[in-house]
Amino acid sequence: MSVEFDVQKIRKDFPILSREVNGHPLVYFDNAATSQTPLQVIDAIVNYYSNYNANIHRGVHALSQEATDAYEEARQKIQKHFNAKETHEIIFTSGTTHSINIVANGFSGRLKPGDELLVSAMEHHSNIVPWQMLCEKTGATLKVIPMNLEGELRMDEYQSLLSDKTKLVFCNHVSNALGTINPIKEIIDQAHKVGAVVLIDGAQACPHIKPDLQALDVDFYVASAHKVCGPTGIGMLYGKEAWLNELPPYQGGGEMIADVTFEKTTYADLPHKFEAGTPNVSGGIAFGVALDYMNTIGFNEIAAYENELLEYATKQLLEIEGLKIYGSSQNKTSVISFNIGEIHPYDIGTILDKLGIAVRTGHHCAQPIMDFYKIPGTIRASFSFYNTEEEIDIFIKGLKKAVAMLS
Ligand code: ALA
Repeated sequence: MSVEFDVQKIRKDFPILSREVNGHPLVYFDNAATSQTPLQVIDAIVNYYSNYNANIHRGVHALSQEATDAYEEARQKIQKHFNAKETHEIIFTSGTTHSINIVANGFSGRLKPGDELLVSAMEHHSNIVPWQMLCEKTGATLKVIPMNLEGELRMDEYQSLLSDKTKLVFCNHVSNALGTINPIKEIIDQAHKVGAVVLIDGAQACPHIKPDLQALDVDFYVASAHKVCGPTGIGMLYGKEAWLNELPPYQGGGEMIADVTFEKTTYADLPHKFEAGTPNVSGGIAFGVALDYMNTIGFNEIAAYENELLEYATKQLLEIEGLKIYGSSQNKTSVISFNIGEIHPYDIGTILDKLGIAVRTGHHCAQPIMDFYKIPGTIRASFSFYNTEEEIDIFIKGLKKAVAMLS
């Protein structure tokens, strides 16, 4: 490794990395599905339930106050991390999917037949289906920004799809299935020129990149904590204040109101308007701790190290006969999707699992990408900053063994 990076020290923070699977040391290469959790985050959750578990924003008692303070402090950490202008522009959600559905629901009264929504060809189902449901409700039309064989968006086609009919544009910052880093600043700027609103799905970018939301000038940006070493079931919706004020709430209930009578209810100010019900308090706190953890390592350092892992693995994979990588953009994160000859991805995944190696196989909730390449699915190895070259060597050896068994 040319990059200075104390991966062995980092690995000690992750208890799960020293377990065995099927009699072999675990090699965890399914980080794009979910990242592993360091002790700092686990301890924050245990500390919450051991010492100050309480409902928030509701109690005058000490525990409630402590929990409320910690939860709101986490919101500030998230605001700072993403460089949002205001703390109340960060809404806690259950994750990226929930965040997208809040926005899609919010636009249901604002669209009409003839309006157009643009979606990129390389979206996760969670950034396709809510918009299709919105189109069904409103009569608006969903159009697709196509991609090329390298797994990059056709920006020329994007330009020609944009018009004064375009109301919304959605795109992932990084493709979960291919690893491509999309040119989101250009996508946002072009959309704004025709007055369209942009939502960026940052779920797969956030483990590798620290986005600057004010510099991007994006309208909505969504992410999940469990991709950045935090727990599952918690995520965020960033929206520009003006948009969040404009959109109606998604769910009604406690804590999202200003005043309730049987005749009329008025809603609470941001961010509470979008946070009905008792939230995932420990999750929110742990999300903040997870970002602290990753920031202590440093996102530039993480990206440089992961890039070395990507290059190291790509080079060795391409030496395997019949292996084809899907997604060969120069701008990609440490995700490699591939197939070997006609072997079914599931068969390879199953043999790798027997060797203690975790990868994801299938369509990765991105069926349109698989249709584009005319394949049922891929094997996807996704690396994190706590993975090592030695693990890649074990993976390559395992793959060769699987190919020998299945050929
Ligand atoms: N969206 C996650 C993945 O790509 C679950 O695996």
